[in-house]
Amino acid sequence: NSHFQGKSFLKESDFTKKELETLIDLAAHFKYLKQNNIPHHYLQGKNIALLFEKTSTRTRSSFTVAANDLGAHAEFLGKNDIQFGKKESLEDTAKVFGRMYDGIEYRGFSQNIVEGLAKYSGVPVWNGLTDEWHPTQMLADFLTIKEQFKQLEGVTLAYMGDGRNNVANSLLVTGAILGVNVHIVAPKSLQPTAEIQSLAAQKAAVSGASLLVTDDVAQGVAGVDVLYTDVWASMGEEETFEARIKLLTPYQINAQLVALTHNDNVIVLHDLPAFHDLNTTMSQEIYDKFGISEMEITDEVFHAPYAYQFDQAENRLHTIKAVMAATLGNLFIPEM
Ligand code: CP
Ligand code: NVA
Repeated sequence: NSHFQGKSFLKESDFTKKELETLIDLAAHFKYLKQNNIPHHYLQGKNIALLFEKTSTRTRSSFTVAANDLGAHAEFLGKNDIQFGKKESLEDTAKVFGRMYDGIEYRGFSQNIVEGLAKYSGVPVWNGLTDEWHPTQMLADFLTIKEQFKQLEGVTLAYMGDGRNNVANSLLVTGAILGVNVHIVAPKSLQPTAEIQSLAAQKAAVSGASLLVTDDVAQGVAGVDVLYTDVWASMGEEETFEARIKLLTPYQINAQLVALTHNDNVIVLHDLPAFHDLNTTMSQEIYDKFGISEMEITDEVFHAPYAYQFDQAENRLHTIKAVMAATLGNLFIPEM
């Protein structure tokens, strides 16, 4: 049997360190094949459903291009285009998808939906982001870190800002599994829940990662190798912007904060989209209301040579390809 075959990719804690490392290394291999124009049609003839209840640039494009590169066809199903959610239940929709598609990507709100799709469809389901987790993002993030530091174990990452969102949850737990030290630097009201912290602590006890949750910025960033941030209000939470701006301004990644790492080799990551200039309609609206043009990261840091967010974005393609090929493809991976 090929390991991963037929499995879903719903959340990081379902996987071991070795499994996550294997997917990251497989992604690096696919990156090499892509860069050298070497065909890799491991999903020839397969059909993939891309179900999106929230908007997306990177995740949708990665699944679409990865499916094409692997020889599969991807069909985009936006929430307003299908019966699901209004006229048809999760169970019925999943059963129909399972009769037609070989694999399903889901992005939306509830983790229960992505779990339900896997339960009722009988085909591999891949989580393209829920309110709780963003697991495909993690593979890209840790591939990017591995590219820069040549290893994962012992690297220290500080995540700044909204410590309760999907990306923060995923970074804390995935870092803990992989042996990457993770600091969540966030105000008390936006720190990870007790449940997430205890799950991460269990994983860290196995890997030896050291974890820190603090509202003290200087302590949280001292000596770290990676500074990471995400939007201050996630999709569906836009009404919290005013409160978040007040709460999170001290956690902004700016030149002063970068200097507080006291590490000349520090890199900056952001999963994107980022709020750093006035070049979007949303940032214009925020500027008109609150008079600020930068939120979680300054434009200066966003354009600094040590900011790797576009490598990270490209790596979404290679890592999503690895997940689809491993779980659905005609590709042998030994049992582990
Ligand atoms: N980082 C990420 O998931 O981007 P999209 O929302 O554009 O897919
Ligand atoms: N936390 C963000 C991530 C976007 C990729 C959100 O959920 O909107």
